[in-house]
Amino acid sequence: MENPRLSQWVYILVSVLVLLKAEGYFVGITYVQNAVAKGAVCLDGSPPAYHLDKGFGAGVNNWLVHIEGGGWCNNETTCLARINTRLGSSKQMVKQLAFSGILSNKPQFNPDFYNWNKIKVRYCDGASFTGDVEAVNPATNLHYRGARVFLAVMEDLLAKGMKSAENAILSGCSAGGLTSILHCDKFRALLPAGTKVKCLADAGYFTNQKDISGAQHIEGFYNEVVTTHGSAKNLHPSCTSKMKPGLCFFPQHMAQEIKTPLLVTNAAYDSWQIKNILAPGVADPHGTWHNCKLDIKNCSPNQLKIMQDFRLEFISALTGLQSTSSNGMFINSCYAHCQTEMQETWLRTDSPVLNNKTIAKAVGDWFYDRSPFQKIDCPYPCDKTCHNRIFE
Ligand SMILES: *[C@@H]1O[C@H](CO)[C@@H](O)[C@H](O)[C@H]1NC(C)=O
Ligand SMILES: *[C@@H]1O[C@H](CO)[C@@H](O)[C@H](O)[C@H]1NC(C)=O
Repeated sequence: MENPRLSQWVYILVSVLVLLKAEGYFVGITYVQNAVAKGAVCLDGSPPAYHLDKGFGAGVNNWLVHIEGGGWCNNETTCLARINTRLGSSKQMVKQLAFSGILSNKPQFNPDFYNWNKIKVRYCDGASFTGDVEAVNPATNLHYRGARVFLAVMEDLLAKGMKSAENAILSGCSAGGLTSILHCDKFRALLPAGTKVKCLADAGYFTNQKDISGAQHIEGFYNEVVTTHGSAKNLHPSCTSKMKPGLCFFPQHMAQEIKTPLLVTNAAYDSWQIKNILAPGVADPHGTWHNCKLDIKNCSPNQLKIMQDFRLEFISALTGLQSTSSNGMFINSCYAHCQTEMQETWLRTDSPVLNNKTIAKAVGDWFYDRSPFQKIDCPYPCDKTCHNRIFE
């Protein structure tokens, strides 16, 4: 696209189409410039950023802090590959993001949170905001500073009024959902004792399971993430005192230690986990799982059997959460990844339901203590309300 005027128009057109599809609205970016002096920076040294839509009416003192996802980088090579992307540099981030689903500002789309202060924190550190390495290699200029970024962003939001919050939620999707689990008690501690605080993890409950070749692929990968980013000191101490730090990146090894109420919403056949934990490319050199990973309808009976076993292990990894009734659980049997940010899966007439409740209703009822929610769906393909992902 050589003509800049034309590409600008195409950009605007595409943006409008994305917006219409998302049934959302655009919110501008805020850079946390003063974070740079604290060394709280993205992988490339640029300032962290978030998008804030101010609360209104009865919601002015309520704060929803939602963390963006985007996988992890596990070594210098994969982290370097991020520095020219939005996942490693705020210079590469678009200036407007569409808010929908749990971030919607319309009561019909988001009845319990529409008028809250709604924030989407951009993800640019590659380790779910846990890293903190002082040294910067001058040859690469890579900064591993996610934990500092988390703190700097929270301090900025506290100063903008979050310090007077009546209600607050730390939420996130995927690697951001994991962030909301790993940082849940720290977020709680930053707010006044009188604030009602809970955490919501959407598709952030990554489980430690063997891949189809029998290798501990994800365990090795997380171990590298934690080592590269110097994350150990920022993981839950009651976990790191018992096992090696890499394992404490898995919710199943630390979620039972969290004091703040936590709701986990996750598909039992999480499409990211099936593609990257159960059947990663390295474990499937002949591509036998390729079509199954694109669309669950393509899976053979044998592949489905393996996925049913994956679900059972996923469910058993949740046991630590179940013992506390203030924790919530919405585990549906869909082939999906992140269901709170998209209007179609959060709240619409045809959205997924579990026990007759949409995710929006279950989360709202749980947050406001109208009713607890700990439900696990029957196995695939029993649930006809799913919006199963189909990858192109
Ligand atoms: C970095 O990690 C990637 C992904 O796991 C792997 O393919 C690559 O070999 C690693 N590179 C180095 C230098 O360790
Ligand atoms: C499910 O919810 C709808 C609408 O709230 C209600 O009309 C219906 O009776 C409920 N069904 C069951 C099985 O609870």
